[in-house]
Amino acid sequence: MGGAAASAAAWCWWPPLPEEPELWRLVVLAVVLLLPSRGPAPEDGEMLGKGVGGGGGSKAPKPSFVSYVRPEEIHTNEKEVAEKEVTLHLLPGEQLLCEASTVLKCIQDDSGQHGICGKLVCTDFKIAFLGEESTLDDNEPQFKNKLIGENDITLHCVDQIYGVFDEKKKPLFGQLKKYPEKLIIHCKDLRVFHFCLRYTKEEEVKRIVSGIIHHTQAPKLLKRLFLFSYATAKQNSTATGPTHQTVMFDTIKDWHWELERTKGNIKYKAVSANEGYKVCEKLPAYFVVPVSLPEEDISCFQGRGIPIWCWSCHNGCALLKMSAFPKEQDESNLQIQKAFLDGIYKTIHNPPYETLKTEDLSNSFISLQEIQTSYSKFKQLFLIDNSSEFWDTDVKWFSLLESSNWLDIIRRCLKKAIEVIECLEVQNTNVLLIEENASDLCCIISSLVQVMMDPYCRTRFGFQSLIQKEWIMGGHCFLDRCNHLRQNDKEEVPVFLLFLDCVWQLVQQYPPAFEFTETYLTVLSDSLYIPIFSTFFFNSPYQKDANVGKESQDSQNKPLSLLTVWDWSVQFESKAQILLNNPLYVEKPKPDRNPRRAPHFKHQRQLSLPLNPNKSSPKRGFFETDHLIKNLLGKRISKLINSSDELHDNFREFYDSWHSKIVDYHGLLLPHIEGPEIKVWAQRCLRWIPEAQILGGSPVAIMNKVLEMMEEVQSLQKKIDEKHNSLMAPPLDGLSLLRKPARLSSLFPFALLQRHSSKPVLPTNSWKTLGDEEDLAKQEDEFVDLGDV
Ligand SMILES: *[C@@H]1O[C@H](CO)[C@@H](O)[C@H](O)[C@H]1NC(C)=O
Ligand SMILES: *[C@@H]1O[C@H](CO)[C@@H](O)[C@H](O)[C@H]1NC(C)=O
Ligand SMILES: *[C@@H]1O[C@H](CO)[C@@H](O)[C@H](O)[C@H]1NC(C)=O
Ligand SMILES: *[C@@H]1O[C@H](CO)[C@@H](O)[C@H](O)[C@H]1NC(C)=O
Ligand SMILES: *[C@@H]1O[C@H](CO)[C@@H](O)[C@H](O)[C@H]1NC(C)=O
Repeated sequence: MGGAAASAAAWCWWPPLPEEPELWRLVVLAVVLLLPSRGPAPEDGEMLGKGVGGGGGSKAPKPSFVSYVRPEEIHTNEKEVAEKEVTLHLLPGEQLLCEASTVLKCIQDDSGQHGICGKLVCTDFKIAFLGEESTLDDNEPQFKNKLIGENDITLHCVDQIYGVFDEKKKPLFGQLKKYPEKLIIHCKDLRVFHFCLRYTKEEEVKRIVSGIIHHTQAPKLLKRLFLFSYATAKQNSTATGPTHQTVMFDTIKDWHWELERTKGNIKYKAVSANEGYKVCEKLPAYFVVPVSLPEEDISCFQGRGIPIWCWSCHNGCALLKMSAFPKEQDESNLQIQKAFLDGIYKTIHNPPYETLKTEDLSNSFISLQEIQTSYSKFKQLFLIDNSSEFWDTDVKWFSLLESSNWLDIIRRCLKKAIEVIECLEVQNTNVLLIEENASDLCCIISSLVQVMMDPYCRTRFGFQSLIQKEWIMGGHCFLDRCNHLRQNDKEEVPVFLLFLDCVWQLVQQYPPAFEFTETYLTVLSDSLYIPIFSTFFFNSPYQKDANVGKESQDSQNKPLSLLTVWDWSVQFESKAQILLNNPLYVEKPKPDRNPRRAPHFKHQRQLSLPLNPNKSSPKRGFFETDHLIKNLLGKRISKLINSSDELHDNFREFYDSWHSKIVDYHGLLLPHIEGPEIKVWAQRCLRWIPEAQILGGSPVAIMNKVLEMMEEVQSLQKKIDEKHNSLMAPPLDGLSLLRKPARLSSLFPFALLQRHSSKPVLPTNSWKTLGDEEDLAKQEDEFVDLGDV
C-alpha cells in the first residue's frame, strides 16, 4: 500500500508550495485525482491504485484515474496559460465577494476523473470557476449562453451544497466548525460540480466556503436581488424596451386584443377596477370577467369568489378560474359568502343556454405537497456524483423512477386538462377552475388546456404570451415556489417546471405542431434561476410594480426598466437562437384573402370533434361494445350503475375517438397518456451525465440533418436569387455554425461531446495497438498499471 501511495506521489507531480500564490494561481494543470472508486473508505485516502485495480472480473465500470498531462509537460502548459489568461467577466452592477485560488475542478468523463486547477470566485450574481477548459478547437461549445458560462452557477441555481470530510459527504449549511476538503454543488438545473480544496490555503477555503454558503442559503431580502443592482447599473446604457411580439398583458389593450382573438368579447369584458391595485394585491391591474358581473362585486371580497376569464373556446364556452374563500369562517360569514357565490354562479350558469362545471383543484387533485415530495425524489436520479454512483443506481433506476411518482403526476395533469377540454368541446359547458389562490394548479391546467386547444399557444410568441397571461399576470408566486429568497423551504414547489415538463410531453409526441423545440423549453427552465430577468422573480405583478415604482419615487429617477426573459438576444447570439426554433414546424396555411368564403373558420371547425356525440367516429374494440350496451340500457340505467363510471367513459370515449383520427397539427391536440408514452425529459435531465450519452444518436442528430438540408435549400435559393447579379453569393452565416464536423450526441447542444481525442494518454504503449473503441472500453475497465511511470 505504501508503495502504491509513493508511486502515486511520484506520478502526481506538484510544483513546490508557492511563496507567492499570485504567480501560479492561474496555472492550469491536469491532475490525477486521488479518489477511491467506492466501497468502504480506505485508511489511506491517497491511494491511487484503489480506483483502478479492483480485479479484471468486476462488472461495473470504474473510473480510472489518468493524468492528461505528464509531469514534464507541465512547464510548457504553464507558458500557454500565461498567454491565455482566464479572466472573470462581471455583468454591470456585479461585485466580487470572495475568491480562492488553487482550487481543482474535478471533471468526470468517459475516461475517468481528472482535475483542472483554477480560481473559485463568488460574486453577488454567481459562483464561477476560472480555469482553462480542455476544449479542442473543433469542439467549442456552439450553444453558449452570453450570461452564464460553462463554469458559472448563479446563486439562485444552487440547490444543495455538500462538503466531503474524510471521504464522507455531508450537507453544508450555517456556520461551519470544520472546513471540507471537497465541495460538491448540486444545481437546480441538475449540474453537479466538484471542487477540490485540498491544495487551497486554509484561510481561502474558509472564506470561499462560508461565502458560498452564506450567499446561496441565507434568507435574502427582495431588495437584495441582483436584479436591482443590474437594472440600476444598466439604466444609463440601455436604450428603452426591446420590441418583441410577446403580449405582456400589463395593459387593458392586451386583454381586449386577447378577447377579440378568441371571440370571447361577446360575453366577457376587460375591467380596470384593480388599477393601482386598489382592490387586491393578488390580481393584476387588468383582467377579464363576465359581462353580467357587476363591477362592485369585484371589490366585495378582495377579488375572491370572482370568476376570472382565462380563455374562450371556438364554440363560445369559456375557461374561468376563481380563488376560493378561506376555509375557517364563522356561520354568518359563511352564509354571506354562500349567497354571494350563488349570485355569481347564476350569472354564468344559465341553463339551457349556458352551463357551468366547477373543478375544485384544491381538494380533488394533486396537492402541492405531493409535487414537492415527488420532485425531490425525481431530481436525485440525475444529480449523480460520479460514475460509480451512476452504474450502481443503474440496476434499480426504473423502480426509483417509478417510486418518485413524477411521471404519474405529469400524467394526472395531462389527464385533468383533457377532462376539462372534453367539457368545453363536447359537452359545451363553461369550466370554472377553483383553487385557494388560483395561482398554482389553476395555472398548470388552464395553460395546458390552451396549449392543447389553441394552435396560437404552440407558436413561440403565443406560448410566451400564454405564460405572461396565466403565470406572470395570474400571480404565480415564482419567488416563493422557486425559493429564490431562501425564506421558506416549505413553499418551494416546482409548479412551473411541472408545467414545462407536461408541455415537453406534447412537444415530443407532436413535434411538427410546435414552433419551438425542446431546447427552447430547456433553456426556459434554466432561465428560472437567472436574476437578470424580472419575469420569474416576483410573486405578483403588484409586487413587481411596488418595488420598481417605489425606487423611482425615492431617487426621483425613471422607474427601473427590468429585462424580460422573452428577449432571448440577452442570453443567446442569433446563431444559437436557431436551436430554439423548430425547423419542422408546419405553419398554418394562410387564410384565403376573400373574407366572404371564410375557409379559415371552416377549417377550424372541421378540426374539432363534432359537438353532437351521435356523430362521433366509430370506436374500436372494447369501447364499441361498451357503447352499444349503454345505448341499449339507456343513459339512465348506466347512470344508476355508476355515475363516476360514466364520467370516466366520457373521457375514454373522447380520448379514444380523438386518437383514432389523423392528427391535425393546427387543431385540437391531445397527448397520449398511457404508461410508456409519458417520458423523462431526457434533454433537461440527462444532458450533464456523460454516461447517459448516446453517441451520434437521439433526436438531435435528426434535427441536425434537417437543419443542414434547410441550409442547403436556403443557399440554393439565394443562388437563384442572385443569379442576375452574376456575382458569387456570399457564404451564409446563419446555419453554418451547426455544421461542425464533430459527431453529435444526445448531450448536444449542452455539454461538450466526449471524443476519442479526449481519451487519456495511456502510460503504456498499448494505445496504438488498441483496435477499436470497444476494446478500449474493455481495456479501460481493467486498466491497471501505473507503477512503471
Ligand atoms: C461516488 O459517489 C457516491 C455517492 O455520493 C459516494 O458514496 C462515493 O464515495 C463516490 N465515489 C467516488 C470514487 O468518489
Ligand atoms: C447616469 O448618468 C448620469 C450623467 O450622465 C450620472 O450622473 C449618473 O450617475 C449615471 N447613473 C448611473 C446609475 O450610472
Ligand atoms: C394563498 O395566499 C395566502 C396569502 O398570500 C397565503 O398565506 C397562502 O399560503 C396561500 N395558499 C396557498 C395554497 O398557496
Ligand atoms: C342523437 O341520438 C339520439 C338517439 O340516440 C336521437 O334521438 C337524436 O335525434 C340524435 N341527435 C341528432 C342531432 O342526430
Ligand atoms: C362506483 O363508483 C365508486 C366511486 O364513486 C367506486 O368506489 C365504485 O367502485 C364504483 N363501482 C363500480 C361497480 O365501478
